[in-house]
Amino acid sequence: MKRRDFVKLGLLTSISNTLFANEQKKIIGTFPSFSKPLAIPPILEPKVINGIKEFDLNVQKGKVNFLKGVETNTYGINTDFLGPTIRVNRNDTLKMKVKNSLDEETVIHWHGLKVPGENDGGPNRSIHPNKIWTTQFQINQRSSMCWYHPHTHERTGAQVFMGIAGLFIIEDEDSKKLDIPKEYGVDDIPLVFQDRRFDMKGQFLYKQSMHDVMMGVTGNFSLVNGVIDPYVNVSPKTIRFRILNGSNARISRFMFNDKRDFYQIAGDSSFLPKPIKMNTLLLSPGERAEILIDLTDLAGKEILFGDELAGKGLLKINVKNEEKQKFSIPKKLTTIKEYTQLDSPKIREFSLDMRPGWLAINGKQMNMKRIDEEVNLAETEIWRIKNSQRMPHPFHIHGCSFKILSRNGYKPYPNETGLKDTVLIYGNETVDVAVKFEYEATKEYPYMYHCHILEHEDAGMMGQFIVKKEWL
Ligand code: C2O
Ligand code: CU
Ligand code: CU
Repeated sequence: MKRRDFVKLGLLTSISNTLFANEQKKIIGTFPSFSKPLAIPPILEPKVINGIKEFDLNVQKGKVNFLKGVETNTYGINTDFLGPTIRVNRNDTLKMKVKNSLDEETVIHWHGLKVPGENDGGPNRSIHPNKIWTTQFQINQRSSMCWYHPHTHERTGAQVFMGIAGLFIIEDEDSKKLDIPKEYGVDDIPLVFQDRRFDMKGQFLYKQSMHDVMMGVTGNFSLVNGVIDPYVNVSPKTIRFRILNGSNARISRFMFNDKRDFYQIAGDSSFLPKPIKMNTLLLSPGERAEILIDLTDLAGKEILFGDELAGKGLLKINVKNEEKQKFSIPKKLTTIKEYTQLDSPKIREFSLDMRPGWLAINGKQMNMKRIDEEVNLAETEIWRIKNSQRMPHPFHIHGCSFKILSRNGYKPYPNETGLKDTVLIYGNETVDVAVKFEYEATKEYPYMYHCHILEHEDAGMMGQFIVKKEWL
């Protein structure tokens, strides 16, 4: 594919407007691009009872004015669309109360959290309408930005599309000690990127055809934290973005329209050992990254953050005309000591299989009654994930943080040298990851591994596994 000249995007407004049917425009209009402020998901305050942090999540229906003159029906958590940010510390004990106020079953999965299978919120944990699921677990993992979303059997894609998703930020000694921007929503800005399409009545238009299943559902409208084409005002300093690709199926290559360098400091499940200088950032659905961007040269000016693959700006950044604040990026961020010793680990193979109308892993489509793999607790293994076709698939594993060992026999990219829970497997690629599970998962509440293109997951590109104490 030809590299688009993103610089020109400074002159373009979002493509959203132009792709919107003229007819439709007469009845329903779009708001001008970059005219709405970025929303920052509020931090959910827990009730602290006997040292346990209790969080109440209510999965509910809502309505949002994404477009002019129409309300779009949505789902959200404690609000109309998306949900609050849960922010906790390592070693905290949490009690999550998830209420289902929808007319259909749902369940909330904590993507990236290392918790036992029974707390994980997989499809076997369905919450019926008007019921509450309460689950308690302790946080025992590195600082990172995880997220939560539904995992309803064959309905994950539809429910995420309607708006169920939220961020889950974990802090630890590393994240508190490091001299990096930390003011939530001000210089430490969470960004959930998603895309949507609408029907002629201004309602979300989800899966329509076999093509949507095979390619995944994408849309011509871009949302950042639930707002179409927003802007944000920041000071002329170094800003930290915590980015989630929360799209159902779209892979994005993020960059600034002046192609400026930035530093990636964290991936899915940990900081990187050191900041990695780059000017484009590829993220597939489910993946996260944290970056630091120096904006001191832009006082009184603006810049666009966008997606090179979609060829458009997604977020306009207005830099205030204030005195610049100099900052130096730390040289070292953390030490990844996990997975350094690997003595002849067991190799487990997974092939991502796709034929028209059929998506599977190792030749099998997801079956809730079948356990596909049995893994021993606390034993490091190599999972070898093989994609012998052209379409890339983001492969995600529950209950762990893994480390990428190789891509087609070569070293992983420098920005994937931290811990992860989702890895994009390109066409004709085999990726080895070192993985270990620290909690049990039973037949009743197994863990999942799957493609994070949600239409693929729902169509069967998913398997179930248990983690058991080794037979003695
Ligand atoms: Cu983000 Cu099994 O999911
Ligand atoms: Cu997950
Ligand atoms: Cu896939």
